[in-house]
Amino acid sequence: MIPVFRPSMTDEEVKAVEQVLKSGWLGLGPQTKEFEDQFARYVGVEYAIGVNSCTAALHLALEIMGVGGGEVITTPMTFVSTNHAILYNYATPVFADIEEDTLNISVDDVEKLVTSRTRAIVVVHYGGHPCDMDGILNIARDKGLKVIEDAAHACGAEYKGKKIGALGDATCFSFHAVKNLAMGDGGMITVHTSELNERLRKLYWLGISRGTWDRAKGKAYKWEYDVEEVGFKYHMNDIAAAIGLVQLSKLEKMNARRKAIVNAYNDAFARVKWIETPVEKEYAKSAHHNYVIKVLSGKRDELITYLAEQGISASVHYVPNHLYNIYKPYYRELPVAEHVWKKLVTLPLFPDLKDSDVDYIIEKVKKFE
Ligand SMILES: Cc1ncc(COP(=O)(O)O)c(C=O)c1O
Repeated sequence: MIPVFRPSMTDEEVKAVEQVLKSGWLGLGPQTKEFEDQFARYVGVEYAIGVNSCTAALHLALEIMGVGGGEVITTPMTFVSTNHAILYNYATPVFADIEEDTLNISVDDVEKLVTSRTRAIVVVHYGGHPCDMDGILNIARDKGLKVIEDAAHACGAEYKGKKIGALGDATCFSFHAVKNLAMGDGGMITVHTSELNERLRKLYWLGISRGTWDRAKGKAYKWEYDVEEVGFKYHMNDIAAAIGLVQLSKLEKMNARRKAIVNAYNDAFARVKWIETPVEKEYAKSAHHNYVIKVLSGKRDELITYLAEQGISASVHYVPNHLYNIYKPYYRELPVAEHVWKKLVTLPLFPDLKDSDVDYIIEKVKKFE
């Protein structure tokens, strides 16, 4: 069975992990610091704070933006982590509709939803295609709102030549097993000020004032610390960071391979009447996290079943979150999201997907109708 996603791991990652395992320091330490520094340089941002998932990153990013008790405008077209993070903060998610082509949040709808209670806008760069960030940032500037970006899909993506991670007030990345940069589980928050950096470093380790690695660096291990607030157990560890360092060094190459596969799919499906292929806007360089077609014939579910019979996994990203039971209290009619999601099919896309597999998938998809 050809999977939808698959991490791309080699002996290099294995060796990096072996070194950490033999070093005697597995927790938050020098590998994590090095990964944070390299990631901040790669993105072009002042501060990068390593955490153990993007879910944790989103929780903390919303917490430091002080959204509690207010409204947060958000997208339904995402994995539930994005919207759960709003609920973790005792804030109210206000769902905006999406753009039919990119599936990203609609700037026009966001603008209509701002009230005196709005504290922040959360955007998701769906599939690695950046949102219309000028539109979002202009609204935020006008209305005094914070912008939190969920860049779980967008590691390496660019908006108008700038890497995603350097634009909003805080950007959250995922290094989950099938993301563009994979380490099993992991995440990153990027921010622009030393105050936010320091606050996050306190919050990701239970509110403790100084990390164990900092305390171990001197001549004698310093056991003393203060606990200044109720934080969380969210920091990254050195095993994950060691994998991340190798993956970061290969990210551009892996993303280029993703793009080559996307181009092959797009060319092959361009004249297939019942398929609409994904778009890439002029302002965007997508990270091509996934390859999502729209099935125009109404036979989305039949296509998925048929592909499974041919040994090809396909999936759906996502059921619009406002349709889930837990989000019923926040339901708003979202005409675009509610009709477009029924057409979506995610086809296999990952750097190690062989050309022969790509050809096989194309052949089978074309034979479907
Ligand atoms: C859009 C989006 N946001 C957040 C997450 C959560 O990431 P993590 O698994 O690192 O917590 C995911 C993961 O699938 C995602 O796709």
